[in-house]
Amino acid sequence: MFNSNKLKLGVFASNCSSGMAITKVPERWDASWEGNLALARLADEAGIEFMLPIARFKGFGGETDFQSSTLETLTWATGLLAHTEKLTVFGTMIAPLVHPIFASKQMVTADHISGGRLGLNVVCGWQQDEFDMFGIEQYEHDMRYDHGQEWLDVIRNLWRNDEPVDFEGKFFSLKGLAGDPKPVGGTEPVIMNAGSSGRGREYAARNCDFLFTILIDPETGAKDVQDIKALGRTFGRDLDVFTTTHIVCRPTDEEAKDFHRYYVDENADWEAVEKLMHLQGMYGQSFPPDAFKMYRDRFAGGHGTYPIVGSPDTVAAELERISAAGFVGATISFVDYVNDLTYFNAEVLPRLEAKGLRKPTP
Ligand SMILES: Cc1cc2nc3c(=O)[nH]c(=O)nc-3n(C[C@H](O)[C@H](O)[C@H](O)COP(=O)(O)O)c2cc1C
Repeated sequence: MFNSNKLKLGVFASNCSSGMAITKVPERWDASWEGNLALARLADEAGIEFMLPIARFKGFGGETDFQSSTLETLTWATGLLAHTEKLTVFGTMIAPLVHPIFASKQMVTADHISGGRLGLNVVCGWQQDEFDMFGIEQYEHDMRYDHGQEWLDVIRNLWRNDEPVDFEGKFFSLKGLAGDPKPVGGTEPVIMNAGSSGRGREYAARNCDFLFTILIDPETGAKDVQDIKALGRTFGRDLDVFTTTHIVCRPTDEEAKDFHRYYVDENADWEAVEKLMHLQGMYGQSFPPDAFKMYRDRFAGGHGTYPIVGSPDTVAAELERISAAGFVGATISFVDYVNDLTYFNAEVLPRLEAKGLRKPTP
């Protein structure tokens, strides 16, 4: 995550059925373990920096019950880390659903198995539908981040103190906190957060190495990056910003547009799209309210991420615009991850290298 590539890349959401594409097409991703393993090896060999899962416990309905089948993220990450060499793999923890002592122990174990390649995505929660399944009522929006702060403080106490300590907070009252082993080589896993609300961003600025945020267009994105970095500086921190995309890359622009039309316009699972947009509007503040009306296609195509559709030249040019806006990297997702990443690695990566955005993989 800290290499010298100007534009870092990470494969997003392959632990979930359909990945990010809310579509009924038969070639949609089934999120099998075998598929994920093949994908991780492809990414690792190509020098892709990371894989980022989605912590999801319940689907979004519709004919496909979008994202109803998911591999638990830390177990998934640990398995992938054991089978790869360079890749960072994130585990995503929804803080109110996992006790921090247990989360810390799991993460340290994965960190040791991988020689220090585990990352943590902290999510403070938004989907009440999912919390209902756990029998947990969420705190009001901003208080979720107060809880998330203590959750992370407990973990850092376990990682940083050699002697047992007591922890007294508003949400946790814990006696004799002790954790061994510590993260590999004394270096803690990289931490990211993807809250877009004011409070979510402040949490990332205070605690995280990276903030991930959605992109409406590169022009608005450039302003976002400046604002987020300025916020980071108020906490004395140099916060780097990533964004999220979904990609259709084919030999020509026309072929890519045809495929996009096929899986979105002709075959989206609109019922699941509507439910996802409804829940995000109700419980999160990641998207401006207008986005739901304006960008239904983006939700169908890739869960609201920024669409990149075109030939390898077009895709590389769009990624260059994202880099020029100040983002240090982007997540990428596809309809058929293994086949599409194979093509992306062969055709787009060399173009990004030619543009000086990435170095060739040794
Ligand atoms: C890149 C990215 C990854 C995310 N991963 C998850 C996830 O795995 N599980 C989840 O419930 N929410 C996930 N989210 C949602 C956010 O982390 C956050 O909880 C949501 O945006 C609501 O927070 P906010 O209202 O403060 O913006 C993700 C968002 C982004 C952009």
